[in-house]
Amino acid sequence: MEKFIIRGGRPLRGEVTISGAKNAAVAIIPAAILADGPCRIENVPDVSDVRILVQMLEEMGAVVNYADSNTLEIDPRSIDTCVVPSELGRMMRGSYYFIGALLSKYRRAIAPLPGGCDFGVRPIDQHLKGFEALGCSYNVQENAQIEVSAEELRGASIYLDMVTVGATMNIMLAAVKARGLTVIENAAREPHIVDLANFLNTMGANIIGAGTDTIKIRGVQRLKGVTYSVIPDQIEAGTYMAAAVATGGDILVKNVTPKHLESITAKLEEMGARVDEYDDSVRVYRYGPLRKCNVKTMPHPGFPTDMQPQIAVLLSIANGTSIINENVWENRYRYVEELNKLGAKIIVNGRIAVVEGVPELKGGPVKAVDLRAGAAMIIAGLVARGTTSIEDIHFIERGYENIVGKLAALGADIYRQQKPGRYNSNVG
Ligand code: EPU
Repeated sequence: MEKFIIRGGRPLRGEVTISGAKNAAVAIIPAAILADGPCRIENVPDVSDVRILVQMLEEMGAVVNYADSNTLEIDPRSIDTCVVPSELGRMMRGSYYFIGALLSKYRRAIAPLPGGCDFGVRPIDQHLKGFEALGCSYNVQENAQIEVSAEELRGASIYLDMVTVGATMNIMLAAVKARGLTVIENAAREPHIVDLANFLNTMGANIIGAGTDTIKIRGVQRLKGVTYSVIPDQIEAGTYMAAAVATGGDILVKNVTPKHLESITAKLEEMGARVDEYDDSVRVYRYGPLRKCNVKTMPHPGFPTDMQPQIAVLLSIANGTSIINENVWENRYRYVEELNKLGAKIIVNGRIAVVEGVPELKGGPVKAVDLRAGAAMIIAGLVARGTTSIEDIHFIERGYENIVGKLAALGADIYRQQKPGRYNSNVG
């Protein structure tokens, strides 16, 4: 079994370059099928979720070429099916964006019910509510496939019952070529929503209001192939920022949009770190002790749920007791059991976690129970005394490009153990 092995105690120092945003790329790649010519997508993170999407596109008949490891050329003109490959589709949550895109293209999509990290129930009722409003009907088949279709897609007003990133983007995709005007209210405002809208608008769509809670989409007849560059990954940046603060380091995080990091920066500063913002980079450092603070996860521009496990590691070694309130997912504390194995003192009650700061963590064997939980285990390993080994690293590799190489370049003592007894030092 492959593992990350970390010997803790080294402050991170130096520079790290952030990759493109995974959660933007997983929507933009399916959106490329709407073009009537090839698209070139740059700054795509080289992570396993993206590679799965590429395989899905190829199985559907598209011609996909990696110009380099971060640039995809997608020619969708040879796609000849509205069926999403089910085995691959089940491996990741983001595969549901093919439903919106295929509806736009063919007014019909057959797709597996989505997989992804396990944080309790992950319904898609709001996606379906949006598709129905646009004129679709759907049925769930016995083999856990869903079929959605419409005679014609017509613009509609859709009020989302809760703020959801996935439904906002999927409805945007389905509506982009629908007849007339679609209005999504109570829309999510994450940077990747704006990125998807910018990509579609570059292709010729007519979308305004992305980044606010009301998005207006006027259907257009055709979308053209374009060149587009994905925004930097807010959560990858936040993860390195948290790792620098945890280890008492001093790093420059490059290729970021500081505005997207504000909620993370604010919390790190509250805990005693310093963050200096430049045009497209931030310097993060800490010299004094870590202070307790309370964290409530919220949709953007609130503190992101995808940074909750990483920040919990910082709180677990801060002075005093902190409270975390997880407002987005009903069960995103499965990592707590693992972190407590390293000496953290965290008690979970429903959506609340009480984190009592301890003087230090002690290395040991742990598991990555999901993507961000795995990132948290890495940060814990970097600060813990002794050696930490992390199993199930495939979760981490879903969303972090070359994490071992990037951390090693910052001075971390980390390597990927390929098989028991053999390893490739510093290979991500
Ligand atoms: N929800 C519903 N019904 C729906 C859709 C969502 O009840 O139809 C609920 C969810 O159960 C959840 C909340 O609404 O409680 C928010 O879900 P959302 O739709 O925003 O999440 P998502 O689109 O499935 C994306 C990211 C997640 C990230 C969330 C929140 C992708 C592929 N995933 O998920 O990212 O946590 O938004 O920001 O974009 C990660 O990267 O580690 C990750 C899990």
